[in-house]
Amino acid sequence: MAHLPTQPYRGTRDFLPEEMSVRAQIFDTLFKAVETYGFQRYHGPTLEAAAIYEAKSGEELANQQLYRLTDKGGRELALRPEMTPTVARMIAGNAGKVQLPARWYSHVACFRYERPQRGRVREHFQLNVDLFGSDSFEAEVEIFEVVAAIMKALGAPRELYELRVNDRVLIEGALLNHVGVPEDKLIEASLVIDRWGKVDAEKRAATMTELGLSAEQQAKLGELLTMDLDAYREAAGPEHAERSSLAQILSGGMTTAPVVFDPGIVRGLAYYTGTVFEVFDVSPDNRRSIFGGGRYDNLVGLFSNQQISGIGFGMGDVTTWNFLETHDLLPKVDIAPEVYLWATDANYRGSLRELLGGLRDAGVRAIPALDATSMKAGLKQASRMGARFAVAFSEHEMADGRVLVKDLSSGEQHTPTLAEAAPALVAARG
Ligand code: HAM
Repeated sequence: MAHLPTQPYRGTRDFLPEEMSVRAQIFDTLFKAVETYGFQRYHGPTLEAAAIYEAKSGEELANQQLYRLTDKGGRELALRPEMTPTVARMIAGNAGKVQLPARWYSHVACFRYERPQRGRVREHFQLNVDLFGSDSFEAEVEIFEVVAAIMKALGAPRELYELRVNDRVLIEGALLNHVGVPEDKLIEASLVIDRWGKVDAEKRAATMTELGLSAEQQAKLGELLTMDLDAYREAAGPEHAERSSLAQILSGGMTTAPVVFDPGIVRGLAYYTGTVFEVFDVSPDNRRSIFGGGRYDNLVGLFSNQQISGIGFGMGDVTTWNFLETHDLLPKVDIAPEVYLWATDANYRGSLRELLGGLRDAGVRAIPALDATSMKAGLKQASRMGARFAVAFSEHEMADGRVLVKDLSSGEQHTPTLAEAAPALVAARG
């Protein structure tokens, strides 16, 4: 009989304990960092009505990347491709209970039908950090500070990355007033900027021609990408420039994060209405976006009449892992037992269990052999598992009520009494 394949579905990953240990340590570090900034953890469902992504996530995500299914009641559902519509729904549905401004974070699996490649998979794990209910630019500052804290907690000095920022209000103004893009083509024109570096010039020109942009307009659109913030604000026109707080946020001393204006940042998702940003690795080996986010004023309004704005970001495990790996910052695998114990004879199992229980009560990661094991086989197994200490219950020592303890990193061994062994091991692990 032919067996079923052992590989996971394309674009999804199995995490063996080694990889899981690294991933868990990365995310534990992130949780701790964001909790210091007062963010509180929430969670939501993997399945949602497909309509919540169709409404505002944008064409690419809703049409090309959504895993859709119809349930037995005929409801059109989707596997969550991102968390923002879910969290907006939750804020809208609990507006009476939730104290604003609210700082929420989550850690969820997201599913997108994409072509798997470096940094892109079909199931990834995302940290979501969002602040709801504040229109103040201090919310942006808080979010940027969290980004800086996260990167620091991961061991990344600020020279390694850049927080590149733009503002949808300015982008809209610049496209309308500098380029002369008609209102109904604004989204498509902004996607041209979003994909600027990813497609060749010829294809780009063809897309712009299709949008009805003349050669002169195309050149003007290209000009936008070379502008500094002052020039960009001028291109956007006074009305749009006034509505944007980007200049204030970027003025000296507002945030400790390495923030820079980048006219090339647009972001693919349709719901952003203000600040948009991407955190980039600036090293030549991994020049790519690690994560990103922005401000969205109208997403909660999809679900209720309330106007509650949100700002935040999503940070994926794959891009974060790649970044940390590039810079040799990945946490070490941490799955080995601290103590491995075995008895050469089944008669010693009671004593072994007693020491084992004492060690575990003290929080020591301790594992016993499940069968009577010779001295040689026990030592071999202890070192194969990467244990720090090996503890043998063998005739020679047990005759005096003692055990053999070997420190496998130094090779030193000693023979404490049964009563001395647990405190000695707890003390020795450091
Ligand atoms: P996004 O840029 O689509 O934004 O995704 C955020 C991050 O999730 C990416 O920067 C990347 O780290 C990771 N990511 C996304 N798609 C994939 C994929 N196919 N494979 C691996 N990693 C991926 C959002 O999802 C917004 N909802 C973020 C947000 C939260 N904005 C405001 N609040």
